[in-house]
Amino acid sequence: MQKTIVITGGAGFIGSHVVREFVVKYSHYRIVNLDVLTYAGNLENLRDIEDKENYTFVKQDIRDFDGVLSLFRALKPDAVIHLAAESHVDRSISDPTSFVTTNVLGTVNLLNAVREVWAGNYAGKLFHHVSTDEVYGTLGDVGLFTEETSYDPHSPYSASKAASDHFVRAYHDTYGLPIVITNCSNNYGPNHFPEKLIPLCIHNILNNKPLPIYGDGKFTRDWLYVVDHARAIDLVFHGGRHGESYNVGGFNEWQNIDLVKELCRQMDEKLGRRAGTSAQLITFVKDRPGHDLRYAIDATKINRELGYTPTVTFEEGLSHTIDWYLANPDWLANVTSGAYQSYYEQQYK
Ligand code: NAD
Ligand code: DAU
Repeated sequence: MQKTIVITGGAGFIGSHVVREFVVKYSHYRIVNLDVLTYAGNLENLRDIEDKENYTFVKQDIRDFDGVLSLFRALKPDAVIHLAAESHVDRSISDPTSFVTTNVLGTVNLLNAVREVWAGNYAGKLFHHVSTDEVYGTLGDVGLFTEETSYDPHSPYSASKAASDHFVRAYHDTYGLPIVITNCSNNYGPNHFPEKLIPLCIHNILNNKPLPIYGDGKFTRDWLYVVDHARAIDLVFHGGRHGESYNVGGFNEWQNIDLVKELCRQMDEKLGRRAGTSAQLITFVKDRPGHDLRYAIDATKINRELGYTPTVTFEEGLSHTIDWYLANPDWLANVTSGAYQSYYEQQYK
């Protein structure tokens, strides 16, 4: 094996697609998936590649510095691609502290561990931090987030991600640690946990339950198919300039209400329901506190420097996503039993 790469959060939604991208494409890399398996971590996401020779899973909490350090001493990683995080904005509103311990302290633990094992020998080393466009705050009706946009987070989630980005950059500027950061817009696709808008609505349509739309539904997000995000991470990991950030987006803005109506339309077609049936489930509910109005990414830099463009259109991506959930009822049933039920009760009561 030419390189050992630790991918944190590899059992989660995006992490599992990144692990697959690297394991399949780079058989000469040893890929170690480091994940503590919270409610959002699911090894089912990786069944198709778990027997590959260049793949290993290690259960480890990034909040436990001693555990991370002794693992890194044993593995001697050449690189870390860091995705492990608490990722859901609504959960950060009810439990902000766990976002600080995992997203901020956990990131600092990883930075300290690589500093210690790399011991100033940074040739061929890289810490790739996977972050979000939410660090930039909110846009009005026009404009796009560029890499120069000032950070202005509004939720405990985005504040914790912003803090982690600052630490990663500070370790580059202070200790010379080789780093890159990617700030991506909203992902969707297979294996998305049904607390997030798209899979939550798919699950509720299947069960004829209300589709909860926060506020007036005019909030806007820029949606990217998850495999296109994994490709962007691959490109930046291999070709990004160290010390730099790269925005990743889909050039694909949707107001929530329009997106959910399109989802309903496609689901009615696929389920053989009369047109308009699922849209009757749409229910406007109390708004999310601190709700950012609009996110939209200017992805010119990654396009210009690394030739990146998304390959999957929203129509194809959404259709493929729905098909995946229809073909995987057991996956959906497993993740929506138990603790999910009490989360749902609490959040949407
Ligand atoms: P997710 O919630 O689906 O997965 C997170 C993973 O991290 C899970 O497997 C979980 O078990 C693991 N994890 C959580 N706490 C941990 C800990 N203390 N130690 C070890 N592992 C831990 O998240 P996601 O949506 O796949 O997001 C992955 C990353 O990408 C996050 O850093 C997120 O901020 C970022 N991001 C997400 C999106 C999006 O649309 N989902 C967009 C841009 C950036
Ligand atoms: O922009 C990138 C971010 O996208 C990531 O950093 C986060 O990890 C990821 O969770 C996502 O954050 P959002 O808050 O944008 O995603 P979510 O799916 O929770 O919500 C999308 C939009 O839909 C948002 O405007 C809130 C709204 N919404 C969400 C839920 C769960 C609803 O109207 N009803 C809902 O029930």
